[in-house]
Amino acid sequence: MPLRGGVMGERGPDRTIEDVRRFWEENPLFGGESKHPRGSREFFEEHRRTCLEDVYAGEFDRRFFPPEENREGVLDLGCGPGFWPIELWERGCREITIADLTETALALAEVRCGLYGVPVTASLQNAEKLTFADASFRHVNCQGVIHHTPETAAAVAEIARVLRPGGTASISVYYRNLFLRHWDLLRGIGRLLDRLGGGLRGRGREGIFAVTEVDEIVRLYDGRENPIGKSFTREQFVSLLSPHFEVLEVFFHFFPARALPFRVPRALHKFLDRNVGFMIFATVRKPR
Ligand SMILES: C[S@@+](CC[C@H](N)C(=O)[O-])C[C@H]1O[C@@H](n2cnc3c(N)ncnc32)[C@H](O)[C@@H]1O
Repeated sequence: MPLRGGVMGERGPDRTIEDVRRFWEENPLFGGESKHPRGSREFFEEHRRTCLEDVYAGEFDRRFFPPEENREGVLDLGCGPGFWPIELWERGCREITIADLTETALALAEVRCGLYGVPVTASLQNAEKLTFADASFRHVNCQGVIHHTPETAAAVAEIARVLRPGGTASISVYYRNLFLRHWDLLRGIGRLLDRLGGGLRGRGREGIFAVTEVDEIVRLYDGRENPIGKSFTREQFVSLLSPHFEVLEVFFHFFPARALPFRVPRALHKFLDRNVGFMIFATVRKPR
């Protein structure tokens, strides 16, 4: 399975964790997209609305959240600007630790948690080499993170290590969905969407539909300078997780309708979200 080495959306074969850190320090998630000052309540509220609308077609999915027995001792790994700790807290999670490779994300997430009265412990961490002791957590939430790091398989092994036996995790990566698998045939439609004004605001991604290389689309989604963005087929994702976990469920979301130059009706958006979403999610359990 090609997880590194200039394939699957990496900008070059030698992109290092320091390149990844530099990019995300300068370009935290949702930075460059909002009209509100970064770190303001309005910024976080706009981020939540955009996230719910675009990543989950307006409606949360209960499969993201841990079972009752694993709600105390939760790690949100690659927390970004802190969307998840609030959602986890509101659904009964306690003793939440937030971790990210960057100071920028941690600072934003701490401000956000403070604004919403969510107690968290913050920790600067590289997912490939966590400093937590074995079996420190009951649940790990890791959404949209390990496809940005050079050693994706090492990050999966670390998630398993810091979980208790019987602990659960919710992990997601970019999915090589129908559109990405057949981009060779669909790029004419992409060019048309580009001419009609489709694309994404900010981070240098306006021309995303005009891109001809499929791996380049995946990388560019997070910004022109993003060093690494990989996408996985279902088989690749499951075989990445299986050496460490029992894979309980696999499902899909994320159809960024805001990138299209026309409005997508809600019912169609939901259908696309669940059937041809650009992210694949797995709920996994560490064997007891
Ligand atoms: C696309 S954002 C996702 C943020 C958040 N999980 C969410 O779903 O809103 C990716 C985040 O992963 C972090 N990240 C990338 N590689 C990492 C690594 N090796 N260890 C920890 N965090 C990492 C980045 O700094 C960034 O904040």
